[in-house]
Amino acid sequence: EAAEYFSRELLGWYRQNKRVLPWRMNRDPYRIWVSEVMLQQTRVDTVIPYYERFMDKFPTAEALAEAPEAEVLKCWEGLGYYSRARNLQAGAQEVVSRHDGVVPDDKAAVSALRGVGPYTAGAIMSIAFNRPEPAVDGNVMRVLSRYFCLEDDIAKPSTRVSIEKLAASLIPEGAAGDFNQALMELGALVCTPKSPGCLTCPVMAHCEGRMAGKEHILPIKTKA
Ligand code: ADE
Repeated sequence: EAAEYFSRELLGWYRQNKRVLPWRMNRDPYRIWVSEVMLQQTRVDTVIPYYERFMDKFPTAEALAEAPEAEVLKCWEGLGYYSRARNLQAGAQEVVSRHDGVVPDDKAAVSALRGVGPYTAGAIMSIAFNRPEPAVDGNVMRVLSRYFCLEDDIAKPSTRVSIEKLAASLIPEGAAGDFNQALMELGALVCTPKSPGCLTCPVMAHCEGRMAGKEHILPIKTKA
């Protein structure tokens, strides 16, 4: 039905259409972690050159852990939200001290690292380790709100929780990393906040939001 169709078509679309991005070259969990932290408040095009410089300078958790904080902040200059950089370095220091420098394949341990919230933990577990964990950010909430015509307020924590459960239920067997990135990719390239590209959308045929003529008003969000 609509849910299975969504997962299958979206995954197939992603595998044919995904962008070549520097954090998609391998599945090193440290590299995925850095990319997800940079991408949290910053656009892909802006992130790319920063990401490449950062990975050249700090190629491993150990390298980042040992660097002077001023060097880390200098490398982050222009990306903004500098607490992200400080938390990332503190998290890398925790990886070195508690986990021998290796980002653990363990949701609870990853979630306990400084600066790693539910979204980042889900992204690391699914993309680096292919664990069936959801990674729900604003883009994913928009895509799922539209496709399933969910009219709950996405500013409410309870809505996020229910969308996380829905997202988890949609993950195809053995394809968590690609599926979660497919959701992000659809939100970035097709199911955009304004003027969504429904005519090129791989799942338009069963999109409940579009069928209801509500694609432009979804997702519903009360407070900024
Ligand atoms: N936005 C957040 N995470 C992303 C990823 N892994 N690829 C592209 N865009 C993203």
